[in-house]
Amino acid sequence: MSNPIRSKAAPTSPQQEDLASLAHVPIWLFVLLFLLTFWGMYYFDQNSGWFNVQVYTPYRSVAELKLYQPPAGGGNERGKAVYENICALCHNVDGMGKPNQAPPLVGSEWVLGSPTRMARIPLAGLAGPITIKGVEWNLAMPAMGAALSDDDLSAVLTYMRQSWGNKASAITPEQVKAVRAELSGRSQPFTSDQLQQIP
Ligand code: HEC
Repeated sequence: MSNPIRSKAAPTSPQQEDLASLAHVPIWLFVLLFLLTFWGMYYFDQNSGWFNVQVYTPYRSVAELKLYQPPAGGGNERGKAVYENICALCHNVDGMGKPNQAPPLVGSEWVLGSPTRMARIPLAGLAGPITIKGVEWNLAMPAMGAALSDDDLSAVLTYMRQSWGNKASAITPEQVKAVRAELSGRSQPFTSDQLQQIP
């Protein structure tokens, strides 16, 4: 039985029916559609920020922006306080050092390297030539940290290792205590060569 709707409206000649079935969707349209979809997804991926609220409702003031920043030194307020009270005098608040006074701590291999080596510097002092980031310094630092408690010294050393873009492990009070015990009775500051022997 033939379709009643079709038999009324649709063309009946076999020639015309052939024409209708031949009107395929051209393949390039599929390719184009695929490419457009792909480009769309890529564009979304690159530019959207995945609907992150900070992208779509940006900060309205600098004060608001500051409010959402993690505190400098990763919340290590104790380390920050000790640093700014004692060490910043020579190494500067931003850790960049001061010409002819103290070398930079930012990116310094002595700060980012071995914890037991670093802890020796404030506990016993440092004197003579030392190369920091390819630059030679030849000054002297007294044992600026010897009078600090294990807690305070570990906090300030950790602060130095984790501020201004520095990223290194924390130094614990136990590590400071152990180094202090090893150094007991030492009155001479370290030299760069001696420190390099320390693992
Ligand atoms: C009186 C100035 C002064 C103060 C205060 C001071 N330093 Fe230094 N520091 C120096 C100098 C000068 C050197 C380089 C010594 C040399 O040339 O041999 C140095 C070098 C260092 C270094 C190794 C080099 C580098 O830049 O990475 C570390 C680590 C360091 N100091 C830590 C501390 C810490 C921790 C404190 C605070 C407890 C502190 N310093 C306070 C003057 C100072």
